[in-house]
Amino acid sequence: MASHYMMLLALLALTCSAAIASDPSSLQDFCVKDSNTSVFVNGFVCKDPKLAEANDFFFSGLHIPGNTSNPVGSRVTPVAVSQIPGLNTLGISLVRIDYAPWGINPPHTHPRATEILTVLEGTLEVGFVTSNPENHLIRKVLQKGDVFVFPVGLVHFQRNIGYGNAVAIAGLSSQNPGVITIANAVFGSTPNISPDILVKAFQVNKNVVLNVQSKF
Ligand SMILES: *[C@@H]1O[C@H](CO)[C@@H](O)[C@H](O)[C@H]1NC(C)=O
Ligand SMILES: *[C@@H]1O[C@H](CO)[C@@H](O)[C@H](O)[C@H]1NC(C)=O
Repeated sequence: MASHYMMLLALLALTCSAAIASDPSSLQDFCVKDSNTSVFVNGFVCKDPKLAEANDFFFSGLHIPGNTSNPVGSRVTPVAVSQIPGLNTLGISLVRIDYAPWGINPPHTHPRATEILTVLEGTLEVGFVTSNPENHLIRKVLQKGDVFVFPVGLVHFQRNIGYGNAVAIAGLSSQNPGVITIANAVFGSTPNISPDILVKAFQVNKNVVLNVQSKF
């Protein structure tokens, strides 16, 4: 009987320790990032709440199109805790994404955030891939006003398939979502991942790996 009880307790403990999928919730109204302190915590130290002001919760500039003159033809303008110190501990942030015609936001993941994206202008092909072993591609074409969700941690992308510029706004469930661009992480790390590792991982010959590495 006692052992059954212990089993139940252990099961309960396991269930309750399930991963939290967004930033930890705040224990006070706000915690404006104090950029002065050298103390390092998970997030940032709060400045004295009595010194908080409107500008700590403010950003201006998302009306300005990002410069898409780059090899992928897109630009992400982030509005996260680095831009708005008042976002510290609040578990949310925003980006504007501009796409040149046929520009892409290359396959990437946000280790700390789910993303919800809406198209303001243009037509986007979007998709994400589920984890192993399925690696199922879930894709859709979005028009102006459509909304799509990229679950936390999954590799996703967007492509402008229209003939004009496209613009999207996305909310993310972290003050600091993080971005891992797959190509840059795998082929453009410093120092390089040894080509022999990538030869086996991608089942291609070494020249192909060296060629891709040379692009970064
Ligand atoms: C940051 O440090 C400067 C100079 O040491 C000081 O004048 C300022 O008040 C500090 N800001 C905050 C928010 O504590
Ligand atoms: C956009 O970026 C390109 C490449 O870095 C640069 O040459 C160009 O001047 C930029 N355009 C504007 C309007 O800033």
